[in-house]
Amino acid sequence: MAATLVVTLSTYAGIDLRGELLTINPHLPKAWDEIKFNTQYRGTRFHFTMDHQRIVITSDQSTEIQVKNQRIALTANQPTTIEYQDGAPMKGLVFDLDGVITDTAKFHYIAWKNMADSLGIEIDEKFNEQLKGISRIESLEKILAYGGKADLYNQQQKLALADEKNREYVELLEQLTPGDILPGILSLLDQADALGIQCAIASASRNAPHILEKLGIKERFAHIVDPQTLTHGKPHPEIFIRAAEAIGITPQQAIGFEDAQAGIEGIKGAGMFAVGVAVDEPLQGADILVDTLAGLQLSDLMRR
Ligand code: BG6
Ligand code: MG
Repeated sequence: MAATLVVTLSTYAGIDLRGELLTINPHLPKAWDEIKFNTQYRGTRFHFTMDHQRIVITSDQSTEIQVKNQRIALTANQPTTIEYQDGAPMKGLVFDLDGVITDTAKFHYIAWKNMADSLGIEIDEKFNEQLKGISRIESLEKILAYGGKADLYNQQQKLALADEKNREYVELLEQLTPGDILPGILSLLDQADALGIQCAIASASRNAPHILEKLGIKERFAHIVDPQTLTHGKPHPEIFIRAAEAIGITPQQAIGFEDAQAGIEGIKGAGMFAVGVAVDEPLQGADILVDTLAGLQLSDLMRR
């Protein structure tokens, strides 16, 4: 009896007692109209009533819980109703490119460093972290501001400098081969294919189609958002919303993969589940954080 109850709570109510907060991801079987149960977590007693659209939760102390990706504040002894979309399983994957699919950050860094040196500005790898996820022209502006030279160049000169950096960057990209695809990516694409899930690219890079061609995986993405058609750059969620739209799903049905802080903010702003790939600097706000995508199982992520 006890074992059956635990399975019911973890499978159908999606109760997860392992994290900092009590977490609920309900997947009620269609044949069931409603479940009601009590549980206790870290000294607080909870009563739940769940159907296919809403969960009513009463706790005997004021606390917070997580329902799907949302943190919900509960007031002691006051029922709180949360609407949720049952049967909205993950239906798409949205990938950043640089730093997630392949490690081009090192080439961006070489090209920007050479450009900065030629302007008498010294940048290092720590500063380079701030350029991740940021468009080419914004990156140049950050470098000029960092060197105290923001006012020395007009728009036309800035565009010429950005073009020059890109020329060197594109030359460096020539060495990319399918062997430069980061660990775990091919497996995720295969798992997505097997589940009939579409994948899209949400990268600030105007070189994304070329890079994906060099890696030999361009055809595996149903859509590549063209960053030149956007009004806002990351951390604005626009690029992620557009990627989801392009593959015919809502952002809530997508998992986003990012290595940049600006990107994680964009994914969360769009309402997606965020997987942060943090190699050098920690990322704030990701739903899960990994140091490699190797070994990641979509079926595990989709249960969250
Ligand atoms: C992002 C990179 O993916 O693309 C940034 O993280 C880069 O560092 C931006 O500035 C723009 O790339 P590109 O290829 O258009 O210069
Ligand atoms: Mg990136």
